[in-house]
Amino acid sequence: MSETHIVTIDRHIIEHERKHPEARGAFSNILTDMALAAKVISRKVNMAGLMDILGAAGSENVQGESVQKLDVFAQDAIYRAMDHTGDLCCMVSEEWEDIIPIPEKFPAGDYVLVFDPLDGSSNIDVNVSIGTVFAILRKVSNEERGSMADCLQPGRKQLAAGYVVYGSSTMLVYTTGNGVHGFTLDPSIGEFILSHPDIRIPEPPDRIYSINEAYTPRWTPGMKRFIEHLKFGDEESGGGGYSSRYIGSLVSDFHRTLLRGGIFLYPGDRENPSGKLRLLYEASPLAMIAEQAGGRASDGRSNILDIQPESLHQRTPLFLGSAGLVGAVERFLSEEGS
Ligand code: AHG
Ligand code: MN
Ligand code: MN
Repeated sequence: MSETHIVTIDRHIIEHERKHPEARGAFSNILTDMALAAKVISRKVNMAGLMDILGAAGSENVQGESVQKLDVFAQDAIYRAMDHTGDLCCMVSEEWEDIIPIPEKFPAGDYVLVFDPLDGSSNIDVNVSIGTVFAILRKVSNEERGSMADCLQPGRKQLAAGYVVYGSSTMLVYTTGNGVHGFTLDPSIGEFILSHPDIRIPEPPDRIYSINEAYTPRWTPGMKRFIEHLKFGDEESGGGGYSSRYIGSLVSDFHRTLLRGGIFLYPGDRENPSGKLRLLYEASPLAMIAEQAGGRASDGRSNILDIQPESLHQRTPLFLGSAGLVGAVERFLSEEGS
């Protein structure tokens, strides 16, 4: 890319806002504010080894998981970027049990932000990529400061979805329903620069599957048959010759799947029929991005984007990536005995 032809995320957001006549400045402001929060978190992540912010913060979150200090920092960075702008009526975070209200001293707006401030927390101390996931919903109730109905909306209602991956470089990838666009942070100028315009999941996809195979003993028969198919199936039926890649950080495993193709799988099993990943702020945002890039996301039976959430932190099985492979796993799971 020529040095002069730089498209920053702020400029890209404004250009895309013009395509959404109904979108108001507030919507673009939220995306811009998320980019700012991402820069703040990225700076901390990249110094994590140097600061006393590694290791558990000692507390446990609503998921009963030990909260790493960077989770807390990321939660605060996003909250502080958003609480005073007057663009949101409330927020939902993996790290907060209930709806996060906008402080009374600040005005409330027409949008809801749902987010996982730091995804892949178990990787923080070992310097493996981690991420942030978010989506923006439009308020649907008449409650000035939001309500559960405003938060519990199916993924199809998301106006925008995005993630940040704090990896070898920090990238922010987002969609507002007009394709998927990736920006790489240039720390020397503190700007997210358009580096991956119009991302499409490649067809044919790389033969990569991503699943935690330690749970094989807990899988259903259909799940076991599908993974066997990927390993030993015959070529013409689309099986055989796959590589396994599992980073253990959803955002990183998804980012690779988006750029290379393949399938990420976090199934339910006998012990946890709903799996581990959360519908509202992990599965639905990534499902919108996958679909916008020509892929799909399923819970094994239904499109993730069509699922009506019943609670803020509800979990869902998640099969995410190349449409053909997501369809294939649905077929294996639908066979009897799966
Ligand atoms: P979080 O750190 O936000 O709790 O998310 C962790 C998730 C996700 O990033 C990853 O795909 C999954 O946990 C890995 O789970 P397993 O360790 O069970 O494979
Ligand atoms: Mn997560
Ligand atoms: Mn998290």
